[in-house]
Amino acid sequence: NSHSLKIAFHDDFLIGTALGVEHIYEKDAKANELIKQEFNAITPENIMKSQIIHPEFNQYNFAEADKFVEFGQKNKMYIVGHTLVWHSQLPAFVSKINSADSLRLFMTEHIKSVAGRYAGKINSWDVVNEALNDDGTLRKSVFLNKFGENYIKEAFDLAAKTDPKAELYYNDYNIEQPAKRKGAIELIKKLQASGTKINGVGIQGHWSINSENLKDIEDAIIEFSQLGIKVAFTELDYTVLPNPWDLKGADVNQRFEENPKMNPYKDSLPDSVQNKLANRYENLFKIFLKHKDKISRVTFWGVNDSHSWLNGWPIKNRTNYPLLFDRTFEGKKAYHSLINLK
Ligand code: XIL
Repeated sequence: NSHSLKIAFHDDFLIGTALGVEHIYEKDAKANELIKQEFNAITPENIMKSQIIHPEFNQYNFAEADKFVEFGQKNKMYIVGHTLVWHSQLPAFVSKINSADSLRLFMTEHIKSVAGRYAGKINSWDVVNEALNDDGTLRKSVFLNKFGENYIKEAFDLAAKTDPKAELYYNDYNIEQPAKRKGAIELIKKLQASGTKINGVGIQGHWSINSENLKDIEDAIIEFSQLGIKVAFTELDYTVLPNPWDLKGADVNQRFEENPKMNPYKDSLPDSVQNKLANRYENLFKIFLKHKDKISRVTFWGVNDSHSWLNGWPIKNRTNYPLLFDRTFEGKKAYHSLINLK
């Protein structure tokens, strides 16, 4: 039996986590001990997003990103850059840009400056994030609307030129689902046909313990790898809480924050749910191990439950339990069931 995830899955794939400002500045010794012990890959949860790193047209804020990269190098970790082109968490000035030329200038300067600063240090970039709708068509983002669909190819080509050593990924959620997967495959094939470098696809993996999707996941691993690219699971977590869009009947009229049914495990997580979560992770990792030759990395979206974005999304101020480590940094049942697979 191994004593950590990164040791247990050492011969299979990288095991990553998303880091926040508190982690890179080592504000909590327990969190940092856990990060170093369990994980060998890191993704910045927010600090490389353009809103933070590029707040004004001519202004960059590299302090935290520098520290993040330094942290990864010091600990000999695989460093993921997240993300160069995304419609969300954009600086305010971008939404005021009106012409295709100015938007292209923003994107070009952004990729050159950010990917350029860390060239040779970042192992892989999520070059474009969430460019697709759930039906597989291209999302009507500011980039698509004002720049046109070629923004994706241009972003990848520029990233390849700026940091030739980095592996380049397309990253998105729900692309394990058939319609969106088909769209992602078309997109990747087009890039490949036009001579663009793309090394992998990132399946985010924001899932729920209440829905079963293993067949989709396995099909996606197989189909994406048939394109000759690597498959990474880049933002893994399982919400244990009900989603507002699943509410039915009378509950729909008393929604969100006011509805106690939306935050049922405020004080503690019942054993039955703890077990269900463990079961989900275990079955998922069995699929991962079966296809380990196709999978480069599995990254959890956060270190432990108290730090997870799912305490605040899609409803604020809830108590969620989506990760492997609890609020005191102890490994949960799900953690032990993964370690025991090896
Ligand atoms: C999330 C972060 O976890 C939150 O802290 C932030 O407020 C919003 O973004 N898809 C992505 C991630 O690619 O960057 C998102 O991260 C979660 C969804």
